[in-house]
Parts: sequence; structure tokens; C-alpha cells
Amino acid sequence: MSWFQEFPGYLLAILDELGLDAARSIADVGAGESRLVDELVARGFDDITVLDISTVGLDLARAQLGDRASAVSWTVHDILTWRPARRRLARRGGVPLPHHRGS
Ligand SMILES: C[S@@+](CC[C@H](N)C(=O)[O-])C[C@H]1O[C@@H](n2cnc3c(N)ncnc32)[C@H](O)[C@@H]1O
Repeated sequence: MSWFQEFPGYLLAILDELGLDAARSIADVGAGESRLVDELVARGFDDITVLDISTVGLDLARAQLGDRASAVSWTVHDILTWRPARRRLARRGGVPLPHHRGS
């Protein structure tokens, strides 16, 4: 048996601490039936991936989200082999750039 957190207060506190703005892409890995996605949508994130190796929790989370679920990328995949699509980068016609120290 696995666990699930009804209200993801701890994760939201971490997001607040990081100061991530809603323009960033974000993925909830091993989401299960977590309600975190509801909070991310409510905060205006529009490039959200909810990933789990099993469809069971994802189907519940998607149903709970209702109409807003279509704006989320529901991904059934093993995190060990998943490669992000980098949708936001693709939308801007950009390519991932290497990070340079001091730039
Ligand atoms: C503890 S539960 C979900 C907890 C959820 N994040 C929450 O806060 O309520 C862990 C989840 O990780 C998923 N999981 C386990 N191994 C995984 C893997 N290799 N790739 C993706 N998801 C995985 C399980 O299917 C399960 O839904």
C-alpha cells in the first residue's frame, strides 16, 4: 500500500521558498493521485506534466481536476527513462543552451 497527501502543503511551501513563477515548466514526478496539480493550475502554471509509472492514481487526479485537466500533460512513464519534451523551449523556437558560470 502506498500513501497520498490530501493537501500538498509541504510541497507548496517548497515552491514558495524557491519563488518559482508560473511561466516555468513544472513536473510532478510520482504524482499518484496527489492534489498538487490542482494547486499548480490554480497558481497559473500552464506547462504542467503529471507523471507516474501507473495510470491508477493519474486517472483519479485527472478526474478530480475536471475541465481543467485538458491543460495538463498526463504522462504514464518510468521516471528512470523519461525525457522531458521541453515544450516551452520548443514553443519559443529555441534550443536548450549550456549553462555558463558567471554569465
Ligand atoms: C507515495 S506515492 C505518491 C505520492 C504523491 N506524490 C503524493 O504526494 O500524494 C509514490 C508514487 O510514485 C510512483 N512511482 C514509483 N516508481 C516510479 C517510477 N519509477 N517512475 C514514475 N513513478 C513511480 C508510484 O506509482 C506512486 O504513485
